[in-house]
Amino acid sequence: MTWIVIGYLSGSWLAAISVCRLAGVRDPRRCGSGNPGFSNVLRLYGPRLAGATLFLDALKGMPVVLASKMLALPVSWQGFIGLSVLVGHSYPVWYGFRGGKAVACAFGVLLVLVPGVALLSAMTWGLLAWRLKTAAIASLASALVAPLACVWLAPAYISVVGGLSLLVILRHGLNIRRLRRGEEPRLRKP
Ligand code: G3P
Repeated sequence: MTWIVIGYLSGSWLAAISVCRLAGVRDPRRCGSGNPGFSNVLRLYGPRLAGATLFLDALKGMPVVLASKMLALPVSWQGFIGLSVLVGHSYPVWYGFRGGKAVACAFGVLLVLVPGVALLSAMTWGLLAWRLKTAAIASLASALVAPLACVWLAPAYISVVGGLSLLVILRHGLNIRRLRRGEEPRLRKP
């Protein structure tokens, strides 16, 4: 239980807000898509601040999941601890429970739990974002790819990764509605 609380609290720190504050630019919750995540920071402020956001959001959940792995906790518990990081990011106690979509922090958690799946998922994201210039499609596709890529692993991994993906997909409800209306903002050209 302690690990889940630590995971939730570390996930609750949103890199996008701190990075933008340090850079002296507007809070990403108040402009663009309003999402405190790397895609919105990329559209608003470019790759330097977006890269810092992506790196820090991915990194924040890694220590607690790594600890659970080193302690050889059951895979299901490692998954719950990873999920607590994503729940923290999505519903952060420090920011009135209004958080982000947990894509970068899901990548960090997956990188520790199942590195090959994380890399495949990241490649899916990169390829689709590059081709379609739409972050939400890339995120939704990589969230679907991750559990499918676990088919050759123990069944526990499919449930764990499926749980992480489900949260990411549920957090994209607004994006799905915008995509259906053809109003989803595109990533700007590098
Ligand atoms: O990484 C989050 C992305 O999938 C959607 O973000 O800003 O386009 O709503 P945004």
